[in-house]
Amino acid sequence: MRAWRLHDYGQPLRLEECALAQPGPGEARVRVAAASVNPIDWKLSAGLLRGVFEPQLPRVLGRDCAGTVDAVGPGVTEFAPGDEIAGVADMARDGTHAECCVLPAAQAARRPANVPPDAAAALGVAGVSAYIALVEVAKITSGVHLLVHAGAGGVGSLALQIGRQLGAEVSTTCSAANADYCRSLGAHHVIDYTAEDFATLRGFDAVLDTVGGAVHERSAAVLKPGGTLVWLAAAPFDAMPGRNDVRVVRADVRCTADRLATLLEWAARGTLRVPVETRIPFADAPRGYALSRTGHARGKIVILT
Ligand SMILES: NC(=O)c1ccc[n+]([C@@H]2O[C@H](COP(=O)([O-])OP(=O)(O)OC[C@H]3O[C@@H](n4cnc5c(N)ncnc54)[C@H](OP(=O)(O)O)[C@@H]3O)[C@@H](O)[C@H]2O)c1
Repeated sequence: MRAWRLHDYGQPLRLEECALAQPGPGEARVRVAAASVNPIDWKLSAGLLRGVFEPQLPRVLGRDCAGTVDAVGPGVTEFAPGDEIAGVADMARDGTHAECCVLPAAQAARRPANVPPDAAAALGVAGVSAYIALVEVAKITSGVHLLVHAGAGGVGSLALQIGRQLGAEVSTTCSAANADYCRSLGAHHVIDYTAEDFATLRGFDAVLDTVGGAVHERSAAVLKPGGTLVWLAAAPFDAMPGRNDVRVVRADVRCTADRLATLLEWAARGTLRVPVETRIPFADAPRGYALSRTGHARGKIVILT
């Protein structure tokens, strides 16, 4: 099988013929139909996560995918060869930017027939991140005021819809070019971050920050006392100067079968639209990394295998 492998940080990925991995206990091997690109892929390939997470090289990158099970390891009762599933690879093993990959069954779920592989693949990291942040950490309920930063991004475009579905009044930051796009996904209010300062706003119950840095630091100001700032992108702050009356929580993102199954069910019912905006043939996969690296990709990028 062919896979895109990283041999050296900062060097181009190489498309290579690789041995087919055998699924171990609790694992399923999948013929990949689609795999999404997440910022962690280009950050890893550029060596930006060295010291935090340094996989042994060469390594196949890519975290999530959808495809057909072709073998299962000992103890797997959830799936059998021929099943259509989506899931997230184990960080300790080769990833999903390949024709075949191995997934822990505990991080995978059946793909409903009316959710296409590209949409299912895109939910594994971005969808589960938005779900954990809004449903489990911020515990969004009807009527709360929610600010989602970067509503046009992979996580944000799903978070806008999840927040809206949970009954929140949803505001989001994006550039002017993405304002209508964010509204189409359910944002009630759009803040063009190139022209307006979101930090002058007040009265939010929760903020989802996927941008980090100064955006993270300045987000606490908009929260009501007792509000929650939940964040994903690496940032050095976990308490806010002058705001000991708000919660600042890093979402601990772990894909589980239950979380992914819920998202897939929402997609199947049509209450969650998976915004796959860029589809890239397998042979051009590095183009997906380059687009993600711009920091301005809209929605999700998916590699079609
Ligand atoms: N900890 C975890 O497990 C975890 C999980 C998922 C994601 N993450 C991290 O979360 C971050 C976001 O992930 P993602 O997949 O959503 O990224 P993404 O899809 O690459 O985000 C791109 C979007 O960010 C928007 N953007 C850029 N700068 C902005 C700013 N200053 N204010 C508002 N919007 C801005 C862009 O919109 P415009 O073009 O309109 O500017 C673009 O649509 C990444 O750093 C990722 O590594 C972490």
